Amino acid sequence: MSEIIIIGVSGGSGSGKTTFVSRLQELLGNDLCSILGQDSYYIDQSHRFDEDGGSVNFDHPSALEFSLMGEHLQDLKKGNSIQVPIYDFATHTRSEEFIHFEPNRIVFVDGILIFSQPQVFENLDHKIFVDCPEDLRFSRRLKRDTVERGRTPEGVEAQFYKQVKPMHDQFVEPTKETACDVVNVENFDERLEHWLKLISKHL
Ligand SMILES: Nc1ncnc2c1ncn2[C@@H]1O[C@H](COP(=O)(O)OP(=O)(O)OP(=O)(O)O)[C@@H](O)[C@H]1O
Ligand SMILES: [Mg+2]
Repeated sequence: MSEIIIIGVSGGSGSGKTTFVSRLQELLGNDLCSILGQDSYYIDQSHRFDEDGGSVNFDHPSALEFSLMGEHLQDLKKGNSIQVPIYDFATHTRSEEFIHFEPNRIVFVDGILIFSQPQVFENLDHKIFVDCPEDLRFSRRLKRDTVERGRTPEGVEAQFYKQVKPMHDQFVEPTKETACDVVNVENFDERLEHWLKLISKHL
């Protein structure tokens, strides 16, 4: 069997990780690559959740089951399929069901904290960091959470400065220098082209 390449794409919330990975997937083809998202590994928080979510820090590594994510990456590397948990953001509950995830030639791992967790980053073949200024990340997140997640602008702003920003500064930003490539709005298309070529060479 051909080797499976696992590529981690990290960066702050709203930096453009999913956009970058989705573009690559689109260009390479869905049958060759799949995306594993960090968010699937949230630990069930339904028991401690209060209405505004303030009691849970969803940006801290302790909110996620990175040990399971690491095991899953090892399984994929061996060519085995995995059962990915399903996390419901509305109720903060992990479903009883799973998504059956088949190993693909290229597996992208998308998440804000993946470069800060040894169980995860030790299983990555390449690390790409998507860099984006804080004010732009904030305005994108404000739009997403109010439009798609029914949150109030005040709530989104409070969460950003209480949790998102401090956790970003502590756990996300320092991992930029561990990445083999840094993508930003200016070099986005050029780096996309670069990775497309590099990945295609290995197929
Ligand atoms: N290079 C870019 N140029 C213009 N807009 C962009 C670019 N990259 C991302 N965006 C826009 O910014 C928003 C956030 O991007 P995206 O969802 O990819 O971020 P993310 O890093 O995956 O965020 P999250 O951590 O919240 O999942 C989207 O509306 C997207 O269209
Ligand atoms: Mg995303």
